[in-house]
Amino acid sequence: MEPKKQTIIFVLIAVISTAAIVAGVTYVILAPTPEGEVDALEIYHWWTSGGEAAAITALVDEFIALHPDTTVQQVQIAGGGGFEMRVKIKTLMLAGQPPDTFQIHNGYEWKIFYDAGLLNNIDPIWTTALKAAVPDVVEDISKGPDGHYYAVPVNIHRSNVLWFNYEILNDTGIDPATLTTWPAFWAACDAIIANPNYTITAPVAMGEQWTAAHAFEQVLASVGIDTYEAWINGEIDSTSATHYADLVTACEIYKTLTTYINSDWAGKSWDSAIAKLLAATPTAAFAIMGDWANGEFFQAEWDHGVDYGTIGVPGTGNMYGLVVDCFEKPKNILHPTAVDNWLGVVASKDGQDAFNPLKGSISARTDANISKYGAYQQSAIADFNTIDASPTSYMFPSVVHGSGAPEAFNTDFIPLIGALTSGTATASQTATALAALAATYSSDFIKTWSL
Ligand code: GAL
Repeated sequence: MEPKKQTIIFVLIAVISTAAIVAGVTYVILAPTPEGEVDALEIYHWWTSGGEAAAITALVDEFIALHPDTTVQQVQIAGGGGFEMRVKIKTLMLAGQPPDTFQIHNGYEWKIFYDAGLLNNIDPIWTTALKAAVPDVVEDISKGPDGHYYAVPVNIHRSNVLWFNYEILNDTGIDPATLTTWPAFWAACDAIIANPNYTITAPVAMGEQWTAAHAFEQVLASVGIDTYEAWINGEIDSTSATHYADLVTACEIYKTLTTYINSDWAGKSWDSAIAKLLAATPTAAFAIMGDWANGEFFQAEWDHGVDYGTIGVPGTGNMYGLVVDCFEKPKNILHPTAVDNWLGVVASKDGQDAFNPLKGSISARTDANISKYGAYQQSAIADFNTIDASPTSYMFPSVVHGSGAPEAFNTDFIPLIGALTSGTATASQTATALAALAATYSSDFIKTWSL
């Protein structure tokens, strides 16, 4: 059912009820009540690329199989990373017309709605079994400052992945296992440009501004996890000598990276950047992207380890960058029962094992049925477990994808990297501006990360 129609029905019932009260009728039904609730569900998300759409469809199918009487409407708002969708959600939430449920990144990104008192606590979904199945780092960001749960994670994406076209690397004589430092990576890029069998002038595929900021985060982590930690704790300013020097270094490395990217990056969606590797005549060999990219390779029926490959972004091999998608239950929604059912499916082992193999992410549950996942994800699950268990390996939450730092900080951070990418700002100007952001938003940092 159309969201507008639902509103109209709600308004009509309210008008009828009011009229009945005025007329002195005693048997009015004040809607909606749980008993009178229409069995429908409206789900907002931004998953429109081939892999994304296939994944959410599989999850919805799982829901429909369990709740066949519920009418489900997916409201897809295109725009990778959800930047367009969140504008719409904010408008609806603040107008008092909350969607039944919506996708968002777990942690800071939903805090604006929490602060405004617009989210339901969903403690009942977080059963003892679910708590036992979800890694602590993900469970932790599903809670509000009041200690209650406000989100149900559907996945764990890895951000620090370097994707490559195997044929190009083989033809150029590049062993991907050697690409563990930035100088080695620059040399590989130069060799691909020089390879006469291809006409590749920009070996690294880059997309619009948020994907540039995404790449920058990985570069920053590569420079030092301590510096990344200080960054997401809002502790880097121009007086924090060691970390500030690292921030400058990260900006300089990133600046070198931009010399290898396509000049039309700003107008490219993330999936059209990945398509450069997938094309019959590829125009790029590498991409730094979260593992939602795997959904595109999967849809193209490319084999991991044969047609395409992955390693950690140079310098981040012992790290797992975290991007966690989740669903919410706003207050004052039309279909709370259906939303509870939906969140139950989102949280379930079967739901996650239907969604994640297509999405590229791993399940947010440690009891996933690994046989349902392809080669890339099986390697990601192994890496996640190794990194989780090792005291010298690290998980780090993404800022671009809403978990690491306050949303306002992120909103200002992304265009600064856009300016560095386009060349309108230098590395040192960018570092200065990034360091100033921490002071600007100091009161918004409510969490101290210990990575
Ligand atoms: C991320 C999101 C992923 C994927 C990606 C591209 O922010 O967490 O699930 O959708 O954007 O749209």
